[in-house]
Order: sequence, then C-alpha cells, then structure tokens
Amino acid sequence: MMNIYSCELLILVGSILCLVCVSLKYVPEDNYLIDCGSSTNSSVGDRVFVADQSYSDVLSAPHSISANTSSDSISSTYDSALYQTAKIFNESFYYTFPIKKPGRHWIRLHFYPFVYRNYNLSMAKFSVSAQNFTLIREYRLESPPIVKEYSVNVTSGSLVLTFTPSVNSFAFINALEVFFTP
Ligand SMILES: *[C@@H]1O[C@H](CO)[C@@H](O)[C@H](O)[C@H]1NC(C)=O
Ligand SMILES: *[C@@H]1O[C@H](CO)[C@@H](O)[C@H](O)[C@H]1NC(C)=O
Ligand SMILES: *[C@@H]1O[C@H](CO)[C@@H](O)[C@H](O)[C@H]1NC(C)=O
Ligand SMILES: *[C@@H]1O[C@H](CO)[C@@H](O)[C@H](O)[C@H]1NC(C)=O
Ligand SMILES: *[C@@H]1O[C@H](CO)[C@@H](O)[C@H](O)[C@H]1NC(C)=O
Ligand SMILES: *[C@@H]1O[C@H](CO)[C@@H](O)[C@H](O)[C@H]1NC(C)=O
Repeated sequence: MMNIYSCELLILVGSILCLVCVSLKYVPEDNYLIDCGSSTNSSVGDRVFVADQSYSDVLSAPHSISANTSSDSISSTYDSALYQTAKIFNESFYYTFPIKKPGRHWIRLHFYPFVYRNYNLSMAKFSVSAQNFTLIREYRLESPPIVKEYSVNVTSGSLVLTFTPSVNSFAFINALEVFFTP
C-alpha cells in the first residue's frame, strides 16, 4: 500500500521529469511496454517491449520468479515474442507507474500460460486491480493467449497495478502495456 508521502514523492518525481521534458521541448506521453520475466527487449511490430529487469523501479516483488518456455510450444502469433517469458509471483505484488499525463490510460494485460518447473501457469488463480478497481477477480485462465484490456482515468501522479494470488495459488503475467490515450 502506498502512503501519501510516497504518492507526493512520485508526483514530485513526475513533475521534475515533466520539467526536464519541457525544457527539451518534448513531452512523451506515458508509455510503458513491459516484457515480463525477460532479460532481453522484444520487438512486436514497431513497438519495443522492454525487459522488466530494466523496470525494477516500478516493480515491487522480492520473491518473483522469471519463467521461460521454448518457443516451439507457442504457435507463431504476432505477439509470440512476448509469450515466451512470464513473471510468476507467490505473493501480492504491485507495479507503480509514474503518470505524467492525467486522464484516460489504456491497460493491456497479456497472459499465455505454460509450464515452468513446478509451476503450471494454467493452474494460477489470482486477482488484478488498478488503483482501487478490481479488473480481474479470482481468475483462472482458460485458453491462451488471453489479452485483457481496460481503460482507466488516472487522476493522480501514479497508476498502481496490483496482482493478488488466491489462497494457495500464484499469479503470473507475460507482458503488460500502460499508455495514455488522448
Ligand atoms: C531495453 O530498452 C531500454 C529502453 O530503450 C534500454 O534502456 C535497455 O538498455 C534495453 N535493454 C536491453 C537488455 O537491451
Ligand atoms: C530459459 O532461460 C535460461 C537462462 O537464460 C536458458 O538457459 C534456457 O535455455 C531457457 N529455456 C528455454 C526453454 O528457453
Ligand atoms: C514466496 O517464495 C519465497 C521464496 O521461495 C518465500 O520466501 C516466501 O515466503 C513465499 N511467499 C509466500 C506467501 O508463500
Ligand atoms: C477524469 O477524472 C477527472 C476527475 O474526476 C475528470 O475531471 C476528467 O474529466 C476525467 N477524464 C476523463 C477522460 O474521463
Ligand atoms: C496444467 O494444467 C492444465 C489445466 O488444469 C492441465 O490441462 C494440464 O494438463 C497441466 N499440465 C501439466 C504439464 O501438468
Ligand atoms: C485506494 O483506497 C485507499 C483506501 O480507501 C485510499 O487511501 C487510496 O487513496 C485509494 N487510491 C486511489 C488511487 O484511489
């Protein structure tokens, strides 16, 4: 849970970033594309999904596991590069995205369950919430790949995405996108 202090801190950091951007005469819109569990960046079309190792600052998960699978188990779809890796969590965790531009943001969650060691991702049962809205409740994934999309009006300086495993279960995510939509 974020306290007010860290909220203000994020807003402050966001403001400084904005100032820096303004002074460079370029204001990038919030655009987070993350390839979870990956150590390398993945290109999908002309978009680059950044390895989540580069995003350790937005991810709070001391016990997360980076999982991978061989590519031949995944049908060659457009996004298959994203589905070869996943982040697995055995306890609640959250991503905190600093938001520079308040307003409608698009959240896209990618799930492609595979088997990694003793984790059968098809068995994962978990909930996902954005700010305080539940997006997915005690969800068990059926047929892959699953892409879930949401639009959230962000009025503060950050967007918090929380994953909560059900009792005796775990959560996972293959890739996620958070970006501003005008
Ligand atoms: C992935 O892309 C990010 C942002 O462009 C860059 O900072 C990082 O060094 C890249 N990581 C790798 C492993 O190439
Ligand atoms: C998973 O990643 C490890 C470490 O990078 C690598 O040695 C292994 O071959 C990968 N496994 C698959 C199935 O891709
Ligand atoms: C998650 O796994 C880590 C490392 O295996 C362990 O220390 C931790 O207690 C586990 N958390 C839960 C909630 O099971
Ligand atoms: C987002 O919420 C704020 C505050 O409630 C409101 O003023 C604004 O119009 C909303 N924006 C959109 C795009 O819905
Ligand atoms: C993983 O779980 C799914 C769904 O319960 C099941 O159909 C599949 O056989 C399991 N795979 C393995 C390797 O245990
Ligand atoms: C979420 O709910 C808590 C407790 O009700 C509140 O303190 C916090 O400001 C809320 N967060 C957002 C982003 O709305």
